[in-house]
Order: sequence, then structure tokens, then C-alpha cells
Amino acid sequence: MSKSILIHENGGPEKMQIHDVEVGPPGPGQVKIRHTAIGLNFIDVYTRSGLYQTPMPNAVGREAAGVIIEVGPKVKGFKKGDRVAYCGVLGAYCQERLMGVEQLVHVPKGVSDEQAAAIMLKGMTTEYLVDQCAKPWLKKGDTVLFHAAAGGVGLLFGQWAKARGYKAIGTVSSPEKAALAKKNGYKWVIDYTKENVAEKVKAITTAEPRRLHRHPQGPRSQRQVAVQDGQERQSEDRHRPALSAGRSGPGAYRSRRAQDDRADRHRPLTGPKAFSVR
Ligand SMILES: NC(=O)c1ccc[n+]([C@@H]2O[C@H](COP(=O)([O-])OP(=O)(O)OC[C@H]3O[C@@H](n4cnc5c(N)ncnc54)[C@H](OP(=O)(O)O)[C@@H]3O)[C@@H](O)[C@H]2O)c1
Repeated sequence: MSKSILIHENGGPEKMQIHDVEVGPPGPGQVKIRHTAIGLNFIDVYTRSGLYQTPMPNAVGREAAGVIIEVGPKVKGFKKGDRVAYCGVLGAYCQERLMGVEQLVHVPKGVSDEQAAAIMLKGMTTEYLVDQCAKPWLKKGDTVLFHAAAGGVGLLFGQWAKARGYKAIGTVSSPEKAALAKKNGYKWVIDYTKENVAEKVKAITTAEPRRLHRHPQGPRSQRQVAVQDGQERQSEDRHRPALSAGRSGPGAYRSRRAQDDRADRHRPLTGPKAFSVR
């Protein structure tokens, strides 16, 4: 039996219920994993609230690390006792689960279970944002604007962008988050609760805002990367104004946030994170 957190209907945190679930033996190509650490991501909130629809009942969570406790037939490359991690597969808020090995990576020595569980989804997200989506439009020295800079993705994004030679502006909601963002690669940090984001950005760079990365998953994600500076570059993506004066500024940003995250107003200090379930 595995303790699993399931939701039967969308809503607030109170909709998460602990159930005893029979996991059963692994099938062909599968292993049974005992989780040691479970990653938390903002998308878990969207799944629970219903912003992103999923079949019911479901076990929320999409990222975890653990140890293989049973191996099914026809499994190659993984054995009992291996430390593994995965992301992108619903149902991570549980003690044990079955998983196809094509979803798994080995956790190398020197990387803790908590680090592995916290880094997979956010790391892959940051990689695709910086090295795939933004790359065609950016050159070293360009400036990028990133919202939620002190969140889990934001902290990785700041480091990654700096390592690639981009100058990152991050937006945050408190001095503590500003300090965290600064430590994690952002050259400039704007506290959008006190400052007008558009005006501050215009004071930092005179370049014409160019493009906004569109994430297929929803409006909040579409705000994640605003790309600017540099020369006009061609792409199949459609033009979206990154920072239009009419829609920017603390007030406008807050009201858009309120629409996107109606039920989830609590905003603790965040960062790459995982719950240990040892
Ligand atoms: N985690 C991933 O791998 C991944 C993948 C694809 C897309 N995304 C998207 O990237 C965004 C950030 O995800 P994350 O996993 O980095 O989240 P996170 O660690 O929970 O950070 C969320 C950040 O968003 C800001 N925020 C704004 N409104 C909020 C609200 N109502 N409640 C809580 N936080 C709020 C907060 O910063 P301030 O208080 O400073 O505003 C907070 O630091 C989300 O839109 C998510 O859907 C994440």
C-alpha cells in the first residue's frame, strides 16, 4: 500500500486527500519506485485548482526522486536499488508508484535526492527557455526580462541566463526575494509592488522591446520570458509586445495575476524545492 495524495474535484488545498492505494507489481518495461523526495511546482496548483484540467481522481505532482524497489520484465539499464528521478508524469505526491523506465534518469553521486527532485522539471523548463526558445533571438549582452524571478524556475533562469552572457532583469514582490534574485544572476531586480515595471525597464535599457516567448500552456507562462534588445530576428512565433505601456506597471500586473491565480494568493519565499518523504 502507498499513501497517495489524490484530488477528486478541483479546488483549494483542502481538496487534497490522503488515500491508501494498492500499487501492484511493475509490468513490462516498468519499475516500482519508493519516493524519497517530491518536487513542488506551480503547475501542481493549476492542476489542483482546475486551471489545467486532468482526469479525476488524480494524484497531483509531476516530479520526484526515489529508489527502485522492484523491477518488471524486459527492463534494461535499471536495477533494484538504483537512485532515480523523473518529471512530467502526474501522480508524484505519493510514497510508491510504478513508472516506465523511459521516463527515468539515474541520479548521479553527489546529487542529493532532494536536489534531483527539485531540479528536473524546473531545470528542463529553464533549458528550453534559454537554450531553445530564446536562443534564436538573443545574442550575448542582450537584456531579458523575467517575471517571478525568485520562484523555482526564476532562480534557475537567472543563473542560466547569466552563464549564457545575457543580462537579466527580474521582477519580485519583496526585498527578501529581490536579494535572492540578485544572488542568482539577475543584474537588475524590480520590486513590482513598489515600482512601475515598464518605467524601470525603460530606465535600464533604451532598446525597443521585441518579443515575448509564448508558452503553449497558458497565460501565466506566456509572461515568463520577454526578449528584447538586439536586431530584428525572424521566427515562426508571432509578434507579441513584451512590455506595452498600457498593460505594464504594478497595478496591471497584479490584476492579471489575480485573474490567473484566483484561489492561490499566498506567496511564500520560494525557490527550487522538494519535500523529503523519507
Ligand atoms: N516549475 C516548472 O518547471 C514550470 C514549467 C513551465 C512553466 N512554469 C511556470 O512558471 C511559473 C513559476 O513556476 P515555479 O514552479 O517557478 O513557481 P514557484 O517556485 O512557486 O514561484 C512562483 C513565483 O510566482 C510569483 N507569484 C505571482 N503570483 C503568485 C501567486 N498568486 N501565488 C504564488 N506565487 C505567485 C511569486 O513571486 P513574486 O511574489 O515575487 O511575484 C513566486 O515566487 C508558473 O507560472 C509556472 O506555471 C513552471
